[in-house]
Amino acid sequence: MRARRTSFWLTVLGLWLVAGPLPAADEVNIYSARKEDLIKPLLDKFTSKTGVKVNLVTGKEDALLMRLKSEGPNSPADLLLTSDAGRLHRAQEAGVLAPVDSAVLKKLIPAHYRDPQGHWFGLSVRARPMAYVTQRVHANELSTYEALADRKWKGRICIRSSDNIYNQSLVASMLAHRGVEATEAWAQAFVANFARPPVGGDRDQVLAAAAGQCDVVVINTYYLAAMLNDKDPAQREAARKLTVYWPNQNDRGTHVNVSGIGLTTAARHRANAIRLMEFLAGDVAQAWYAEVNHEYPIRPNLAPSKTLAAFGKFKPDGLSLHLLGQYNAEAVRLMDRAGWK
Ligand SMILES: [Fe+2]
Repeated sequence: MRARRTSFWLTVLGLWLVAGPLPAADEVNIYSARKEDLIKPLLDKFTSKTGVKVNLVTGKEDALLMRLKSEGPNSPADLLLTSDAGRLHRAQEAGVLAPVDSAVLKKLIPAHYRDPQGHWFGLSVRARPMAYVTQRVHANELSTYEALADRKWKGRICIRSSDNIYNQSLVASMLAHRGVEATEAWAQAFVANFARPPVGGDRDQVLAAAAGQCDVVVINTYYLAAMLNDKDPAQREAARKLTVYWPNQNDRGTHVNVSGIGLTTAARHRANAIRLMEFLAGDVAQAWYAEVNHEYPIRPNLAPSKTLAAFGKFKPDGLSLHLLGQYNAEAVRLMDRAGWK
């Protein structure tokens, strides 16, 4: 059996040597900061629909951006996929993203979820509300992000560190709405209420709250949704102790962010790349994202997953998300001054 298989491959190799390599394949190359299993099935769907092969390189956000920068015009990447508007803005600032003018993308993606000049486009929405321990807090004790600065929350709040781009984007949104002075005064008082120096990711805040270390956490909802659907009963039990609270419903709305995509300046498969962007913004891909990743679809007319729907409807902040990038550096400095580790 093995010998027969070997001879088959030798024949293939022989044919290849005679005929030369296949003509440049219909393909597109993507650098992705999303975990492979959260994007690969979608890319496979695209390939089976269009015949365009997708070569996926997965890596950490900062490493991928560094790589794009150092490869410059020689980069094989056509697309950069990342999980926060702040990062997309950084890539844009670094000069590695090219503007795209696509009527399809403009139609499919609301204006505040894409760069005004087309350097990047949001593909899924993630909300960053609060969650409270149902046994120790009542919903009517909560109202806004601002109100978490109240002394009554002293030693009761868990949130991850200021290194984290999600928190930087949350603070950037406050800077955009309320200015430096108000945001800084808030940050000082908010940090003073932390139950512990920030440690771990969003899931760790939920675990800490469930274990009694704190009463309120600020997290992206897909983490809580993933925990509720986790194979590990410890994760499920911890998540079940918390209830989502949608802050700022009577003013600007709850802070949201996007995962998104941009065409690189080095792109050699431009047409295929734009086709893939349009596919990812389309209904099929959006429904998959919603179900598997527990993120909100980029358009409000599409349904979220059952778990997300159970967290309730909410009013999202309508801020144009390119501002999260513009205010990022200021947000980082402000969090540092406030002692947010
Ligand atoms: Fe995340």
